[in-house]
Amino acid sequence: MIFGPSLSLHQPSKAHERRTSTLSKAKAAQALVCGLPDDWHLHLRDGDALKSVVLATALQFGRAIVMPNLKPPVTNVSQALAYRQRILDALKLVIDETVRNIDRYKTSDVLATIRMQHFFNRPDASADWMLEQLLQAAHFEPLMTLYLTDHTAPSDIDEAVDSGFVRAVKLYPAGATTHSDAGVTSIHQLHHVLARMEMRGLPLLVHGEVTDRDVDVFDREAVFIDRVMIDLRRKFPGLKLVFEHITTEEAAHFVRDAEGPIAATITPQHLLYNRNAIFNGGLRPHWYCLPVLKKERHRRALMQAASSGSARFFLGTDSAPHPAHLKEHAAACAGCYSAPHALALYASAFDAVDALEHLPGFAWAHGAAFYGLSANTRSIRLVPEACQTPQRLGFGERHIVPLAGGEFVPWRFDGFVDC
Ligand code: DOR
Ligand code: ZN
Repeated sequence: MIFGPSLSLHQPSKAHERRTSTLSKAKAAQALVCGLPDDWHLHLRDGDALKSVVLATALQFGRAIVMPNLKPPVTNVSQALAYRQRILDALKLVIDETVRNIDRYKTSDVLATIRMQHFFNRPDASADWMLEQLLQAAHFEPLMTLYLTDHTAPSDIDEAVDSGFVRAVKLYPAGATTHSDAGVTSIHQLHHVLARMEMRGLPLLVHGEVTDRDVDVFDREAVFIDRVMIDLRRKFPGLKLVFEHITTEEAAHFVRDAEGPIAATITPQHLLYNRNAIFNGGLRPHWYCLPVLKKERHRRALMQAASSGSARFFLGTDSAPHPAHLKEHAAACAGCYSAPHALALYASAFDAVDALEHLPGFAWAHGAAFYGLSANTRSIRLVPEACQTPQRLGFGERHIVPLAGGEFVPWRFDGFVDC
């Protein structure tokens, strides 16, 4: 079976340690080499926050679909071009800074050594290995999106397609989530725009939740299918649709069974946790995202879909950083920051159901095929060694607590291979 450019299962170089963990069900004893994954749903933010998070993604993913929900949102091609440049500039700056830290590491500066080993999650990392990883990260490609508003015009769609770097348009129902106040108030008013997208082959990425206050927050995705998705699919049968960060059995089955070009992204948190995680011994804001975690029945359906081998399901972390003080707040922001250990989390989820052979399709092949892009030719390695996720990380002037921060995960991301 061919899984990727150099997918192979082979013995890890050293014996691995199995630690008890809430995530731990891993049984495999082999390392996994897989085609370099892409992240098909990512929030990178802007300014200092962008600088704090961009390298974590570039060290694990070849490309990422970057969400446009900045303040103000990215609604046209010139804004997308400028944002793309800020992302590339931030990445270059952070890589240069990290190279300087590695130089200090070479001269045996103890603090720099510890920082770098922690950063790369590899206690035995050599300076040369770290420099190689950074060289690879410099190839990261942000794929840009536009934010659909009530004022988007068909000419915006033409410009987006003609730009060559805008890959999709994002639909946020107004009020559905973080920075969605400029979102769409009535999708029916935008049929001319959707028709142009259908004609030009530009995917519509859907935050699929109704916003009515009378609909229970746990039902909003299922109700959205009945009120919006079915109608969208029927009216625009050729429109490429991505049902983003699906959280329910209903959404998984809808995407599995629908006619026409349709796919879904699935986050690590929705594969690994049910809604109990939010209430585990107290209110846990770092497990709060939108759409919110659901019951165990839904988590199982998502895991089933992700590991089914169907090309309609692929990786999208929805890694959405917020500073800890705004998460640990009376009105906690929605969003889980998973980028630094995203692949370790996904590998742990797939391993827990003995489906690691389907991870490369989900993480590497299916998304690229849906977007009409070629799959990455480079590879990465994951090893079945328990590793502790970072408890907190710098985030501009503040700090951030990542998803499952401080927990032991049974898999560890081991970097780019053969570079
Ligand atoms: O939890 C979420 N956070 N869901 C979203 O849809 C947006 C995201 C964010 O931007 O923080
Ligand atoms: Zn998102």
